[in-house]
Amino acid sequence: MTVKNAFKSAMSPTLINKAKTLRYDLDVLRYGLGFYRRFVRNAAFPSNNGQSQLEARLIFNAHSLEKGLSHLDFRPGFGKKAVLNLTEIMNRWQKNGYPNEAFGYVEALAVLKAYQQKHESLNKPLPDFFVSSTTLFAEQIAAADSSRAGARREATQLHIGGNGSYADVITSRCSIRDYSDEPVNIDAVKRAGELALKAPSVCNRQPARLHIITNTALIHELLQVQGGMLGYADPPVLLLVISKMSTMLNPTELHEAYIDGGVYSMALLGALEAEDLGACPLNTMFGRKQESKIRDLLQLPDDDALIMFIAVGHKLKVDSHPVSRRKSLNEVISVHS
Ligand SMILES: Cc1cc2nc3c(=O)[nH]c(=O)nc-3n(C[C@H](O)[C@H](O)[C@H](O)COP(=O)(O)O)c2cc1C
Repeated sequence: MTVKNAFKSAMSPTLINKAKTLRYDLDVLRYGLGFYRRFVRNAAFPSNNGQSQLEARLIFNAHSLEKGLSHLDFRPGFGKKAVLNLTEIMNRWQKNGYPNEAFGYVEALAVLKAYQQKHESLNKPLPDFFVSSTTLFAEQIAAADSSRAGARREATQLHIGGNGSYADVITSRCSIRDYSDEPVNIDAVKRAGELALKAPSVCNRQPARLHIITNTALIHELLQVQGGMLGYADPPVLLLVISKMSTMLNPTELHEAYIDGGVYSMALLGALEAEDLGACPLNTMFGRKQESKIRDLLQLPDDDALIMFIAVGHKLKVDSHPVSRRKSLNEVISVHS
């Protein structure tokens, strides 16, 4: 018998578990610290001029303009902060000699052109901040393809229903932020929540839980804190997916609750689409104050990791939504043969 094993057999199971827990505590600290360092090194923080980081900032600001362009109640001259951010990053992009063909840069030019064209089509003057900040890029914007960014106004695809293929559901789903007055049948939301339980989870531990909120005052209060739907009317139903940290066994599972919660959420978005409901995932990227307000409003226990809200309602007959173009397969795939 090794010294270690002899030592172990002399200890009571309670003591062994206490020792293990202490080691796990320290491991979480080590993994957490390693993760923190890697995140800080790589995230698209403001002074990081890496190509991937600048591209993330271009896409973020371009998307913000796309949302403004898609509003049914369009507000000419909107988006000062996003336009100035976008052009400031485009300047940095050029200084670093990054390629003009990169997805994020093409998106930036396309959304600026869409912004120009939307104002022209309404006979509205371009705001001064737009004209002055885009002068350097005027030629590139003129040559851009505005159809790949901005807003898409189209007849809503209805009645995919339970007979649609997986590809039908995935292709027709997009984030819907404006809803009709038709009341939502909660049974349909529950059916979607149940179908989404088919989502896989680590060792089948199923950490995701679904909150269905129909109280209009509570929805309003939650969305005021969440902040990602400001400028849109409140949805008739708001969902919150949380994930139970209490289902996680050891330090290597530090992020697993979030992964399983995300997997459940995507299954849920597909299932809502199959029910012909419009839905928009909404982030839970909160600072401490915001998070504690949300936790208080819903009386969530410490155990619950916030995954995402999902706004739900019936689709309008004609919807206007951001194009949200996707990268090509070549840009995301690596084959290891
Ligand atoms: C986790 C997550 C959080 C999101 N948060 C918001 C949000 O707060 N506000 C919003 O309008 N859209 C939000 N979205 C929707 C994205 O903007 C949208 O999914 C993306 O642009 C792709 O467009 P599509 O969903 O229409 O295909 C979120 C999406 C995800 C997956």
